[in-house]
Formats: sequence, structure tokens, C-alpha cells
Amino acid sequence: MSDKTVFIKTYGCQMNVYDTARMKDVLAPFGYAAAESPAGADLVVLNTCHIREKAAEKVFSDLGRLRAHHHAKAEAGGRMVVAVAGCVAQAEGEALRARAPIVDIVLGPQTYHRLPEMVARVLRGAGAVFDTEFPAEPKFDHLPPPGAEGPSAFLAIQEGCDRFCTYCVVPYTRGAEYARPAAEVIADARRLVETGAREITLLGQNVNAWTAEGPHGGAWSFGRLLRELAEIPGLERLRYTTSHPQSVDADLVAAHRDAPALVPFLHLPVQAGADRVLKAMNRGHTAADYLRTVDALKAARPDLMLSSDFIVGFPGETEAEFAETLKIIDAVGFIQAFSFKYSPRPGTPAAAMPGQVADAVKVERLARLQERLAEIQTAFNRSCVGRTLPVLFERAGRHAGQLVGRSPAMQAVHAEAPAAAMGAIRPVRIVGVGPNSLAGVLDDLGERDAAE
Ligand code: 5AD
Ligand code: SF4
Repeated sequence: MSDKTVFIKTYGCQMNVYDTARMKDVLAPFGYAAAESPAGADLVVLNTCHIREKAAEKVFSDLGRLRAHHHAKAEAGGRMVVAVAGCVAQAEGEALRARAPIVDIVLGPQTYHRLPEMVARVLRGAGAVFDTEFPAEPKFDHLPPPGAEGPSAFLAIQEGCDRFCTYCVVPYTRGAEYARPAAEVIADARRLVETGAREITLLGQNVNAWTAEGPHGGAWSFGRLLRELAEIPGLERLRYTTSHPQSVDADLVAAHRDAPALVPFLHLPVQAGADRVLKAMNRGHTAADYLRTVDALKAARPDLMLSSDFIVGFPGETEAEFAETLKIIDAVGFIQAFSFKYSPRPGTPAAAMPGQVADAVKVERLARLQERLAEIQTAFNRSCVGRTLPVLFERAGRHAGQLVGRSPAMQAVHAEAPAAAMGAIRPVRIVGVGPNSLAGVLDDLGERDAAE
């Protein structure tokens, strides 16, 4: 039965993308089919992000726009239930409804397994529902087992963060660290591979802080988990995100040496390059500590490439301190990065620090930082021309006969390829570089596709 529709809009990080997919899984048995637009939908969920002010404000402007659809549905004799999920919901709670009265349900990231029950309560006329607690029973116990929707799948293994970087809302919105037991993670990973996944990205706000009970008792390290997952037949690529440099221990370094399925690409945010700033951020590491970690990882896996997150204009950041960030970019040679202007978040320590940096200064520093990052990225992409990269083909390209996939370093690669290459990792010789992707030709065409 699928006579109702749900539209879910996702903001923010990969964890939210994952949560959206799981909300759809939870709602499907109750007859909700996914809709492409909010027009006419029976249920609209905004799965929100609170990490920076811009992301949070976007939710309120979208709620404003949703009013017309809400009204149209009522005019047609229907009822559109509106839910706000995710980190804005967690942070704002009941206050959210004062700003946006069309909201029926406010639910945090830890309670979305109860969404069908909340919708039923609203439809019974029991009033608005607020559920932003951190329940004792982990939501993972109440979610249906995941299935892969393509060759590349996400798997949440950890949630929350205990690090309390002074700029960050995550410890407040996602709560304390929770790690899923190894047996559960392995079972989910096996199921994903059985349903078509060739690549799994393990997700967590502080994913490499994962440590939990092993299948036969005793605590497992994250490195141990990775080594075990890498043994699953048919699982060809393993990734994890987002990690903290201080949780890279010797065992994790060894896993990068021992498990070929671990791709030689790691997102390891450094945030800034000046030690005073890193300390004020409560990162728990210096620039030298970070560089030592990178060296250890590269000694274990010499082809490892890195990406990072950066914040410019943290309170008190001087021009000289900003220059230290540019220095660490050059020292590591990050081939990809996400970079942001510091955004003061209510309730976080940094928001109350003296020396808040003027927006014009942040804008200017961000432009310089991004220019340097783009140069490195472009040089890296150009250096791929003539090389053969293993590409996992994930979807059809824009032109007939073309498939698009990802290299180990997450570069989008398109190539002429037979339909049979979909979902497979194939060697692709890179022949060109576009603004957002690489162009290549299959390198094993003669051997594998002669008969096709
Ligand atoms: N302002 C700007 N960027 C932030 N991030 C987290 N909090 C803030 C903030 N208050 C960035 C960090 C983090 C990424 C997910 O978002 O770089 O790694
Ligand atoms: Fe936020 Fe990451 Fe720091 Fe945790 S480690 S507080 S999620 S920036």
C-alpha cells in the first residue's frame, strides 16, 4: 500500500543524507512513498543542519515557502503534516513553532524511528509533537535493516561527539558519543554488500573515536573493525568520515597499511594552522601533531591523499595566524577541502570570545584560502591525466553509452562504458580534466568487453 507521499528535504552533512534515507525506510511500511516535491505531499520533513548560521536560516525561509503548499493541500481537502527533524529541531525545540506555526512535529536526530507514531498522533488531532530527547534505547535498535540503493552505500556506526571544539554545535545537537556494537555493524555491512554495495562509507560525527564491544566480548578498536570489514567478500572499497586527528592511533595507522580495501584517501579536518587558534578551538592538537599523524599515515600507506575542513576568521585570528593555515595547506597538499567563514553559534564558547573578526576580513581570507586550495586541486587533477585509476561506476552519464563513477580520491570520472560496468570497479585511463570531473577511457576494454 502506498497511497500517501512524503517529501524530505535534506540539509547539511552526509549523516543527514543517511538519516533521510532511514526515515524513508521507517515510513515506507506505513504507506508513504517518496515524493520529488512538497506540492501535494501528505508529509513534509525538513531534515535540518545547525552547524552554521546560514544553514539554520535556510530552514526558516523554506518553512515560509512551504506555507503556500500547506494551504493548497488544505484547500483541496487534505492535510499536510510538517515535521522539522535534525539539528535545528534539536537546538530550537518548541521555540521553533513560535517562529513557524505550520510545524506539527519537532524531532531530534535521535528519535526519528518514532516518526510514524508522531504523524499518527498529529492526524488523530492530539496536537503538536515535540520529541528532542536523547532516549536510553538507541534508535539503531528500532530501525529496519538497511539495504543498498547503489554500489556506494553509507553505514552509520557512531554518533555524537565528546570533543567540544569551542565553535561547534554537534556535541549539543547530536549528543554524547555512541558507538554501535561490532556485530551489528558487520551484519549491516554484509547486508549492504549482499544487496549490491561495492563500497561502504562508515559514518559518524567522530567516526574514528569508535570503540565498542566485539562479537565475542572484549573491546574492539576502530582499526580492528576496519580490518574485519575489509575481509567481507565483495566489499571492494571502505571509507570513513569524519575523523579527528587525535583519534588516529597506531592501530588505525596499521589498518591503513594492512587493509587494501581502505581507500588511499582520508578526510581528516585540521581546521586551522596556528597553534594558538587550535588551542582556542580546543582541538587538542598542534599543527606539528597533525603533521606527525599525516606522516605516520603516509608511512603506512604512501599513496594516501588527504582532504580537510578549514575555518577562517575564528575569534582573535590575526593575519599572521591565518598565514599559518595557508602554510599547513602547502605542507600537506590537501587535494580537496571544505572551507568556511567562522559562524558564531549560540551557546558555544567561541561565540562569546573577544576579538570576533569582521565579516569583510573573513570573506577576504576565505577567498585567499580557497584560491590556494583550488590551485592544488587543479594541479592534482591535471596530474591524473595519463594515469589509470580504478573507477567505481555508479550512474549513467549525460550522453548515451557513458557512465560516471568515482576514483579513490572521490573525483567524478566519466567514460564510455558498457552497461555491464555499472556497479563495478574498472581501470580507467584519464584523458582529460573538466571543471568538476575527469574524462577517461576504459583501460581493459579489449579483455573484458570484446563479446559485448
Ligand atoms: N563556523 C564555521 N564552520 C564550522 N564548522 C563547524 N562549526 C562551525 C562554525 N561555527 C565546520 C568545521 C567542521 C565542518 C563540518 O563544519 O570545519 O569540520
Ligand atoms: Fe564538532 Fe568535529 Fe569538534 Fe566534534 S570533533 S566538536 S563534531 S568539530
